[in-house]
Amino acid sequence: MQTIIIGSGNVAYHLVKAFKQNNIEIHQIFGRNKAELLKISTEFNIPFSTNQLEDAELYIIAVSDSAVENVSELIKNENALVAHTSGSLPMEILKGNYRKASFYPLQTFSKTKNLDYSKIPFFIEAENQIDEKSLFELASIISENVETSDYERRKYIHLTAVFACNFVNHLFARAKEISDSQDLDFNYFIPLIDETVEKIHHLEPKSAQTGPAVRGDERVLKLHEELITDEEHLKIYQLMNESIKKMYQ
Ligand SMILES: NC(=O)c1ccc[n+]([C@@H]2O[C@H](COP(=O)([O-])OP(=O)(O)OC[C@H]3O[C@@H](n4cnc5c(N)ncnc54)[C@H](OP(=O)(O)O)[C@@H]3O)[C@@H](O)[C@H]2O)c1
Repeated sequence: MQTIIIGSGNVAYHLVKAFKQNNIEIHQIFGRNKAELLKISTEFNIPFSTNQLEDAELYIIAVSDSAVENVSELIKNENALVAHTSGSLPMEILKGNYRKASFYPLQTFSKTKNLDYSKIPFFIEAENQIDEKSLFELASIISENVETSDYERRKYIHLTAVFACNFVNHLFARAKEISDSQDLDFNYFIPLIDETVEKIHHLEPKSAQTGPAVRGDERVLKLHEELITDEEHLKIYQLMNESIKKMYQ
């Protein structure tokens, strides 16, 4: 399928890389950010444009959620299939007289971090079965883990991902603020973080919980609250402990 990728951010970059690694041709990469498009175009040897959107069979729109609708209006090709990559948008956000779809990869993408694409779950939805099958086959070239999913299910997948990834990473960032404030090397905590994540390959997250809140150790909870000087850290510390206590009471 002749494919154009729209966008030059994290997801667009990794989709281009995943397609290229699997010898899937990309006809063009299109967007508004010339400097980023040029970098992707140079790295993967793909034509790019900021103003001349070519004809293609498939357009994958990988831009910020808030821009998907406007960007989708740029596609005038009525014979095309157009997919977005968002977990929290329905297909109907796409505005045009073309066939609509969603092509949602469940992973956290940053340009500077390499990924094994074969393990990434892809969730596919399309208006008709033929398109769903083509997108399913396309994603299956990249990944061993492809499923169809409607928006009702996809939005809960994304919500779960926010808890499992975005919030956890935010806690890492807050933890680093604390270690930095005391000149502690954050590398001390990497084996602990690795084990925390590795453990849930084998245990239910609920069974893997440790720490003062689940032990009901009020002395340590009080000590930590006294040590915290940052208001935001204190709010998070108290909220997390309340949540842990409620889960195990
Ligand atoms: N990041 C993830 O881990 C992840 C995972 C799965 C799905 N997704 C979904 O994938 C999509 C892209 O996310 P991302 O992480 O790649 O975002 P990103 O890295 O922030 O990149 C956003 C892209 O959208 C472009 N853009 C923003 N506003 C625009 C506008 N008004 N008109 C035209 N282009 C605009 C940006 O161009 P500029 O550089 O010019 O701003 C940039 O190319 C989103 O729907 C997101 O929900 C993300």
